[in-house]
Amino acid sequence: MEIPYRAFDNQTDLYAYLDEQLAAVLRETEDWLAGLANAASVLYLLLPQLNWAGFYLMKDGALSLGPFQGKPAVSRILPGSGVCGTAVQTGQTQVVRNVHACENHIACDLNSRAEIVVPLEADGRLFGVMDIDSPVLARFDDGDRQGLERAARRISAWLADKM
Ligand code: SME
Repeated sequence: MEIPYRAFDNQTDLYAYLDEQLAAVLRETEDWLAGLANAASVLYLLLPQLNWAGFYLMKDGALSLGPFQGKPAVSRILPGSGVCGTAVQTGQTQVVRNVHACENHIACDLNSRAEIVVPLEADGRLFGVMDIDSPVLARFDDGDRQGLERAARRISAWLADKM
């Protein structure tokens, strides 16, 4: 399947396009693994300046590495540990402008400078988190947070009857 890459000069259009392309890859499968694998690919292809994009899923009380694009990453993260575990513990999106200044950050790719982690929740269930890293300091602003929370809502609603 060809996802056309397009450059945008504003975040509103970029995130509307991201949402459209996520909907397209999710609609053609009922398999959560296949859907999340394609969702990771869409995120990584369409958002500029990333070095990692993917998912950690709740399994036996911890986050377990799911589909992603980027370098190999830590495979298990406990709630409260790292940026991902903090998102699980608080239920809130975590935006880190400089991971080197963040004590509770788990380093996977030494090139990472900024990170955003969004919980995946629907119907009161927490499926896991969407994790996105960038080599660019302060890469994620409030517009990115809103766009990625919209993406997470779409993915979580789709996951709700598949996991
Ligand atoms: N940095 C994350 C760990 C996962 S990697 O970034 C892919 C964290 O602190 O939870």
